[in-house]
Amino acid sequence: MKKITKAVFPVGGMGTRFLPATKSIPKEMLPIIDKPLIQYAVEEAIEAGITTLIFITSASKHAISDHFDPKPLLREKFFKEGKQHLLDKLHTIPNEITRVFVPQGEPLGLGHAVLQAKEIVGDEYFAVILADDFIKPKGTNATKQLIEVALEKSASVVSVEQVDEERVSQYGIVDIAKIHGLTNEIKSIVEKPSLADAPSNLGVIGRYILSPEVFDFLEQTKSDKGGEIQLTDALAGLLNKPENFYASKLNGKRFDCGHKLGYIQATIDASLDDEEISAKIQNFIKDRI
Ligand code: G1P
Repeated sequence: MKKITKAVFPVGGMGTRFLPATKSIPKEMLPIIDKPLIQYAVEEAIEAGITTLIFITSASKHAISDHFDPKPLLREKFFKEGKQHLLDKLHTIPNEITRVFVPQGEPLGLGHAVLQAKEIVGDEYFAVILADDFIKPKGTNATKQLIEVALEKSASVVSVEQVDEERVSQYGIVDIAKIHGLTNEIKSIVEKPSLADAPSNLGVIGRYILSPEVFDFLEQTKSDKGGEIQLTDALAGLLNKPENFYASKLNGKRFDCGHKLGYIQATIDASLDDEEISAKIQNFIKDRI
């Protein structure tokens, strides 16, 4: 398999769970402390060797392309004033990294968003990164971990973790053939099943390495009851061949920032890791409860 160098960031969703904050900005621009979720995700991708970032955007929201713009006027001002710490904060993407923005047109679901990247991805394995899954890695970052598995197995792979029963219906759920180690062959995958119908409690996290074959399945995937084309439904197509699709247990802590609870937990966790404010936050929490 060729090196994996392209990552798709679907950022055109409506962010309904975070209204009114997401009326004019994408949910991926919500910050954890002082950095937007999308920047954490982009940094993870670049660290994993990705050199082309493909953002699938909503036409009315320009905040993400603005965020990654070089900002030459501000740069010059901080340079003249000798404010290196502010210059460092402006630096969001190294120059050699390519950014591509593709309008999604209509918000017709995650599968529809990924399909918009077809021409740019071409005939290569690629990453899909959902920035609202904020991940604190233990060692190797989540995308790098998946790339290593994909290269070793020459196959598609998704990141998974065990989720509590009450959250099973919020995620794609996989059933694995047999458990050995962190990486296992997928037997079935289903989008947001009821607890009764769920084949397991292994929930899909927003990190995928996918074969370009998935575009063919996406083109054939019908909309669900809510009018959305689900990525998970197309992924089920990859199970047509044995040893084609693996689940890899995440080595790290995932916070689902698509929901209020996960977002606040991520913020508290990050603030407790932040040397500048950690002690004060701990005191604040002690006093508050
Ligand atoms: C999407 C996917 C789901 C996956 C989840 C990970 O759901 O459809 O399969 O488990 O991301 O965060 P969404 O968060 O868009 O509802």
